[in-house]
Amino acid sequence: ATALAGLAMVAAATGPAFAEDGYRLWLRQQAPVPAPDRIAVTAPSPKLALARAELARALPATVASVTLARSDDPRVVHLRLPTRSLGDEGYLVRTVTLDGAATILVTGHSDRAILYGSFALLRHLATGGAASGIALSSTPRVKLRVLDHWDNLDGSVERGYAGASLWDWWTLPDFRDPRYTDYARANASIGINGTVLNNVNAKADSLTAPYIAKAATLADVFRPWGIKVYLSARFSAPIELGGLKTADPRDPAVAAWWRSKADEIYRAIPDFGGFLVKANSEGQPGPRDYNATHADGANMLARAVAPHGGVVMWRAFVYADTDPEDRAKQAYTEFRPLDGSFDDNVLVQVKNGPIDFQPREPFHPLFGAMPKTPLMPEFQITREYLGFATHLAYLGPLFTEVLDAQTGRRPDQTVADVIDGRADHHALSGMAGVANIGRDRDWSGSTFNQANWYAFGRLAWDPGLSARDIAREWALQTFDARAADTVVAMMMPSREAVVDYTGPLGLAHLMGTSAHYGPAPWVSDLQRPEWNPVYYHRADRQGIGFDRTASGSDAIAQYAPSLARRYADPQTTPLDELLWFHHLPWTYALSTGRTLWDEMVHRYDAGVAAVAVMAREWDTLKPVVDAERWQKTATFLQIQQREAQWWRDASLAYWMSINGLPLPVGVTPPA
Ligand code: GCU
Repeated sequence: ATALAGLAMVAAATGPAFAEDGYRLWLRQQAPVPAPDRIAVTAPSPKLALARAELARALPATVASVTLARSDDPRVVHLRLPTRSLGDEGYLVRTVTLDGAATILVTGHSDRAILYGSFALLRHLATGGAASGIALSSTPRVKLRVLDHWDNLDGSVERGYAGASLWDWWTLPDFRDPRYTDYARANASIGINGTVLNNVNAKADSLTAPYIAKAATLADVFRPWGIKVYLSARFSAPIELGGLKTADPRDPAVAAWWRSKADEIYRAIPDFGGFLVKANSEGQPGPRDYNATHADGANMLARAVAPHGGVVMWRAFVYADTDPEDRAKQAYTEFRPLDGSFDDNVLVQVKNGPIDFQPREPFHPLFGAMPKTPLMPEFQITREYLGFATHLAYLGPLFTEVLDAQTGRRPDQTVADVIDGRADHHALSGMAGVANIGRDRDWSGSTFNQANWYAFGRLAWDPGLSARDIAREWALQTFDARAADTVVAMMMPSREAVVDYTGPLGLAHLMGTSAHYGPAPWVSDLQRPEWNPVYYHRADRQGIGFDRTASGSDAIAQYAPSLARRYADPQTTPLDELLWFHHLPWTYALSTGRTLWDEMVHRYDAGVAAVAVMAREWDTLKPVVDAERWQKTATFLQIQQREAQWWRDASLAYWMSINGLPLPVGVTPPA
């Protein structure tokens, strides 16, 4: 007892016994004194109890009273607030007078909406918003806001750089690791409402009774936070688990097997979200194995979950084993003709660009080209091609660059307008992000990676937000307010720096071929042509770049005519996408006043220099950032500096071995 008392005294004197390791993410605000009595709940429910606890934990002393009440509460009705267009999940937060006293009312048509409103109120206050005269209101533009975990049943995570899977399949379904709750809470705070538990390269085992029971426990933990569970489904499961001879989607026995499997899942998880499917891509089984279409496959599964209100998210990332076509064209070629043939509860999940989550790609040409189908963009939050967990790269600008892109299919139509589904009156809409979350103490492998999870959630709620505003919001909640300006200044150019030192001017896919780490533009001897970086850059003595105009693969014809015209001519192609669409002489004169080669060199150097600037900026924050988070980021920036230099040197040395050109005057030769 004495020893314990001593420990308690030490803890009291030095603050919390744990180090500031980033575990609390952006939810770090703490009420001076937890004060549940400041928070009134008119009709208690499990979700409202959570909302109340969040407010009690973090409400600043400046707020005297908060009331959580649904919009149909007579006292709220009486106030005649503009709640009509809030939908199921939208919230309204207002300073009002109730029973003669001022209070901040958090309302909406559902308890989930009030939970979101409570988080919005806390965000408002934590980011410098005034406590008086509050008037916030927001309705999500996208319905399914989903994290895709590429987590395997053995606990590993495909392309995961933040430790092992959060799901401890060994102790599930019995043990409810408190981390599951913390995960759900973090997601709810930014509006994420779905999670796919297992890898798209799925094992049939995930659909067996023991795994359904494990998934059901997770669903129970997540439910109060408004989060549904989904599973990746292996298309050949009827053969592997059901003993059938075929998985042909047109075979009635196959459809019956999936129906009964869906029934079994829904008995355990009544609000199960549905299936995510990777079919006929990178060796996965699918309907094409039987000469059936992707629509045949998707609809068969959709009919199995439809009676229960489930959906199917069918991926358009089809990367065939044998297709000689330009890899960038495959998804459009295969899916565009299927527009109009999918059932109502199918969403087609389309990667943000036509190849594979490169540091920069033009937006995917399917956006805007399948108006009869809800298209769900898939972003990669984990940074498979942008330096894994160590390099600092804020993805807000990558996400918004795609969402803000004009499709050219309708006047002023952006990708965001396509995916929110309003223009085409889709009942469903969605946005998916491949999670960057694991068992690391800071969840995402680094503090700054947390911002990418955060930005994904905020943009899935409102794809019209600005990357800078989100960065600022995140910085103010994650660090001391004195650090915010510098943190935002570091974040905003960080993704462009990665583009510059790994592959400027529209180059792509130049990385190590299996791990996808580090430079390897020289690799040319792998079995399939498109496994080799040389397939993508096509450099020779005369020039560099992939000709995707009519004289080449003609991938530009997959874009709207106005865009295709712009991409047809290197003079009107954005510089950032130049070598994605064109093969040009090294001496080609650019609008910057430099030759193509000189511009490439310039950009590699700019990328390296930008990392040095970030490191210097971070140094200045040492006095205002806690030691553990400061040190880890500082060390990671050193790694990034070394590796940016490696990318630059290796790439330049290789290009020079091909083009035989000198470096511009004054440029340091590669080490
Ligand atoms: C990339 C990634 C794979 C992943 C695939 C997919 O190719 O390297 O690990 O399985 O994308 O999105 O299906």
